[in-house]
Amino acid sequence: MNEVEIGQSKIVFLKGDITKQQVDSIVNAANSSLMGGGGVDGAIHRAGWPAILEECKKIVAKQGRLPTGQAVITTGGKLLAKYVIHTVGPIYKSIRESDDQNWMIRGSENQREQLRSCYIKSLELAAEKGVKSIAFPSISTGAYRYPLSEAALIAVQAVKDFLKQETSIKDVYFVLFNDAAYEAYVEAVRH
Ligand code: APR
Repeated sequence: MNEVEIGQSKIVFLKGDITKQQVDSIVNAANSSLMGGGGVDGAIHRAGWPAILEECKKIVAKQGRLPTGQAVITTGGKLLAKYVIHTVGPIYKSIRESDDQNWMIRGSENQREQLRSCYIKSLELAAEKGVKSIAFPSISTGAYRYPLSEAALIAVQAVKDFLKQETSIKDVYFVLFNDAAYEAYVEAVRH
């Protein structure tokens, strides 16, 4: 099942390249410098260049590096999307947590909150601009090494929680770059 209705909105899961999506805004898994990088960050800057980078430079000059869990919005440049929302996910560091039965290896509560914040802050920024459709990549699950299944649960829950309120955002796409990511997100929405 690759689609789920939440109130007047829906969440759609698809495999593809986020730079090719015909939506109002796409979301970039950036780093705090906002100067681009590899992965989806590199793909978005390459496809939307140079206007996106120019605006990122102005943002950093004005407010400094972007903290983890925060988001900023720029033009989409040459992309089909009108806007790019840049957000910085947590770099995964597993910790051993124990409840009364067993030890769990997972991201710390802080990292879970930071990753959730990437989605909530991005959606809030998009709604402020009257965005109706937005596409997310699988934030933090590449270079930042967040385990897919855990990240997918956090991401889907954050979007579901946000869409329960009245919002201009009608369509939220998760654009997954490979089968493993796609399966993890489709599985997450079943929980
Ligand atoms: N479209 C959609 N998803 C993509 C694309 C694309 N064109 N390219 C890569 N991805 C996927 C990856 O397969 C992964 O599932 O995006 C997800 C996030 O991976 P990264 O891009 O590595 O992002 P992240 O793990 O958040 O690490 C961010 O990497 O690129 C640098 O500058 C970036 O320092 C930052 C760090």
